[in-house]
Amino acid sequence: MSFIVKKTISGKDYYYLNENKRIDGKVKTKTIAYLGKTKKDAKQKAKKLMENVSSEKGKEQKKETKKDKMKEVKLEHKEISIEELTNFCKKKGFVFRSSDIYGGFAGFWDFGSVGSELKKNLKDAWWRYHVHGREDIVGIDGSIITNPKVWEASGHVTSFVDVAVKCKKCGNKTKLDKHELGKKKCEKCGGEFISKGEFNPMFITQVGPIKEDSVQAYLRPETAQLIFADFKLVQENARMQLPFGIAQVGKSFRNEISPRDFLFRSREFEQMEIEYFIEEKMKCPYMDECKGVNILVYDEKKQIDDKEPKLMDLYDAWKKQIIKTDWHAYWIAKEFEWFVELGAKPENFRIRQHCSDEKSHYSIDTWDLEYKFPMGWRELEGFANRGNFDLTQHQEYSKKSMEIMSKDNKKVLAHVVCEPSLGVERAFLVFIFDAYFKNEKGEVVLKLNPELAPIKAAVFPIVKKKEFETIAENIFKDLKKEWNIVYDKSRSIGRRYARNDEVGTPYCITVDGDSLKKKDVTIRNRDTTKQVRVKISDLRNILRKLINQEIEFENCGKLVR
Ligand code: GAP
Repeated sequence: MSFIVKKTISGKDYYYLNENKRIDGKVKTKTIAYLGKTKKDAKQKAKKLMENVSSEKGKEQKKETKKDKMKEVKLEHKEISIEELTNFCKKKGFVFRSSDIYGGFAGFWDFGSVGSELKKNLKDAWWRYHVHGREDIVGIDGSIITNPKVWEASGHVTSFVDVAVKCKKCGNKTKLDKHELGKKKCEKCGGEFISKGEFNPMFITQVGPIKEDSVQAYLRPETAQLIFADFKLVQENARMQLPFGIAQVGKSFRNEISPRDFLFRSREFEQMEIEYFIEEKMKCPYMDECKGVNILVYDEKKQIDDKEPKLMDLYDAWKKQIIKTDWHAYWIAKEFEWFVELGAKPENFRIRQHCSDEKSHYSIDTWDLEYKFPMGWRELEGFANRGNFDLTQHQEYSKKSMEIMSKDNKKVLAHVVCEPSLGVERAFLVFIFDAYFKNEKGEVVLKLNPELAPIKAAVFPIVKKKEFETIAENIFKDLKKEWNIVYDKSRSIGRRYARNDEVGTPYCITVDGDSLKKKDVTIRNRDTTKQVRVKISDLRNILRKLINQEIEFENCGKLVR
């Protein structure tokens, strides 16, 4: 991603072309060229430079295409329905109905051998990017059941309500937000809904085995609230100073009236949330990172006027006050970047502002990052401006001060002007949808980013013979120390490749005739089917660089196919 920056040195303006690149998990900015002293010159020069870069890239690609014509594989992205994805996930061991042998249980899902790995990798990638990759965010791991006062203070006991409705025509049961009652028609048949009353989606449980002595408590409906309740302790222990964030990943539960669309709306799910605390009116110092981040923007006015969303640079959207706070624009840019860097398709994303009657009880302004699911545009991640609502409530209910000392030694109550809140399962769906390709034979190739791939490599002896098997088993044991690796010797090599392509294994390693003499192996790339030969002694190092995307596949060994 490249963008123009202005530097003022001794009162004079100078323009430069900068580029953001992700190296070792961190975004690093590099200056590519000096562009002159005026904005106009800078824009012209940058345009020319970018044209030159793309024509050079084009030439390089042409050369390569000629050279590799014989080996080129054609993968085509396939759009599939949510039902097709549900079947694929069950068949390949990603996800299936919980307690399937008993007919399942609506809204509950179990993750299988590859699904649990993908889900874990996704959460680890999120944690690396948001917690380990930054100095201003620390994590917590709060309990699922906590003192019920937390949910009284947060407003969830009284204000976290949906309306249960039933379609007069087709009987479809679903939930609506209060403001949608009387306005929204049945999505199945266009019929009118009748209200079946309000309900609170929190699961109630009893803490203490003897009923008379027990306390009514709740399974948490969001991970966010524990961050607010623990705010003071975490700030003190981790010695954080504003602005800073606290992150949490974990289970949340909502007794949804109509769990549907596979993992999209379930009763048990996981959230990855950040509460980012600032001193009121503190400016976001990272706004340059929003420059050049383009996304479809669908603000409240456009929705009311029935207009289409507009493609905008997030920095401009903030400058034009379509997105009101700098922190909001910044966090939307960071989250969008996270998805795209991990392989999601940018054209499937947009942001939508909540209309005034749609906002949650705690929110001043909310934007959703939406994704084009097969069922239509739907919320993927929410970004609410919660102000100081939650800390004020906990202060009042607990009678404990939630104020902390600011950098200039003033007592302040921190504000959360943007809370990025993402469902793990919805992100899981996005990465599979965007990675779902088919090859010329009609076989599925799941082009998952190696960081997310459930199995990092598969090791094969070319034939079932002792001398090949021994080498392959030793390689498997060595690589297994670091990653999830499979060893496979059954059926043809082609079948073994296909089995691994389907679950997204990026690299297949084969021990063949030459391996016995030369102590080397082939590595096959899932997306191009190209193969390189590398020394067994270098294999672990090379695989690490490939998984971390630190080298090009073609440069990691001798290209043989
Ligand atoms: N702390 C704010 C909060 O929980 P939310 O919009 O209710 O906000 C945040 O939820 C995210 O959690 C959603 O954008 C979605 O990704 C996920 N989520 C919410 N309800 C869900 C459900 N029933 N099933 C799966 N994911 C859900």
